[in-house]
Amino acid sequence: MRVYLDNAATTPIAPEVVETMLPLLQTEFGNPSSTHYYGRQAKAVIENARRTVAKHLNCNPAEIVFTSGGTEADNMALYTCTRALGVTHIITSSIEHHAIGHTAEFIAANDHIRVSYVKIDGKGNVDLADLEALLQTDEKTLVSLMHANNEIATLLPLQQVADLCKKYGAYFHSDTVQTMGHYSFDLQALGIDFITCAAHKFHGPKGIGFLYINKMLKTEALIHGGAQERGLRGGTENLYGIAGLAKAMDLAYEDVEGHQRHVQALKTHMIESLQKHFDDIYFHGETNPEKSLYTVLNCSFPKTEKAGMLLFTLDLKGVACSGGSACSSGAVKGSHVLEGIAADGSRPNVRFSFSRYTTQAEIDFAVEKLVEIFSTTLV
Ligand SMILES: Cc1ncc(COP(=O)(O)O)c(C=O)c1O
Repeated sequence: MRVYLDNAATTPIAPEVVETMLPLLQTEFGNPSSTHYYGRQAKAVIENARRTVAKHLNCNPAEIVFTSGGTEADNMALYTCTRALGVTHIITSSIEHHAIGHTAEFIAANDHIRVSYVKIDGKGNVDLADLEALLQTDEKTLVSLMHANNEIATLLPLQQVADLCKKYGAYFHSDTVQTMGHYSFDLQALGIDFITCAAHKFHGPKGIGFLYINKMLKTEALIHGGAQERGLRGGTENLYGIAGLAKAMDLAYEDVEGHQRHVQALKTHMIESLQKHFDDIYFHGETNPEKSLYTVLNCSFPKTEKAGMLLFTLDLKGVACSGGSACSSGAVKGSHVLEGIAADGSRPNVRFSFSRYTTQAEIDFAVEKLVEIFSTTLV
């Protein structure tokens, strides 16, 4: 048996998404920018998909710019703010995905933009009082904080942060790559400027995502070229990916609460099973379902000399997951997120992540293998 518990890295593509994409790959070869029949057909696929996305998020289709995925959308949000909107100050956190963290560092070093890091607690919660203090500046400011942390699952109170940004006149971007397709969004009600999406995190294809840009903002391209995406993103569109993304979104939002209940029950079951079998185990980040992304569980296992072998051994025994720490010496150096919450690096940290396709039998298999490994290989 093999189980896949690394859905925060990527998810398997849904069969219905493949069914949507295949006939398009076979027939829709036209360039969406061509004005003839073939081009118009291809363009229609893209515009239908854009309307689907907008319907799910309660926004305007013109607010969706398709990109090559989450990283490009994150880059675009930051560059748009600093180049087109006059932002000179970015507030972010030390535990963002590198698509934001490294981009902010690069912009700070090259474009003379000030970057402030908001305080976070040991579970990865943003200190809202500190955020409010940082917002009290005359500089044009962008706040970029992720909706859910991809390693430790802690959720940001999105509405509260959106309200704070509005109060102080700051732009607000949230990296929603891990939550898109997993929670409902009402962008009109939320009042946010930018959010990012990657289809492969909710059973869509890889290499496609989008940036939502609030229609009130006058922005400019990150990738210059043709007039695609209303001049905001040059390059012939990935229409197969775009159609697949829209289908994946339809499937995700068909019964998002049902998926949430199913996956949360699995996560709770795994927590309880692990606690039953390991005396000395705890979990990084929030685990309260109100404050924690239901698809991710980051475990800190008991100390062992052979901690570096854990992931490798799990893989050999058929359990695919990922390290909270990539460093084989057992130090937390590999994960800036675990370092950011001052996690104990001498313990083996493992992230398990689930999807609507995950079953309880798979969780039980993983727990069984963990117990076996800790009582044999790692002693
Ligand atoms: C929170 C977050 N942001 C951004 C990304 C980057 O997305 P992509 O791989 O589609 O570029 C990821 C992917 O792991 C992510 O988890």
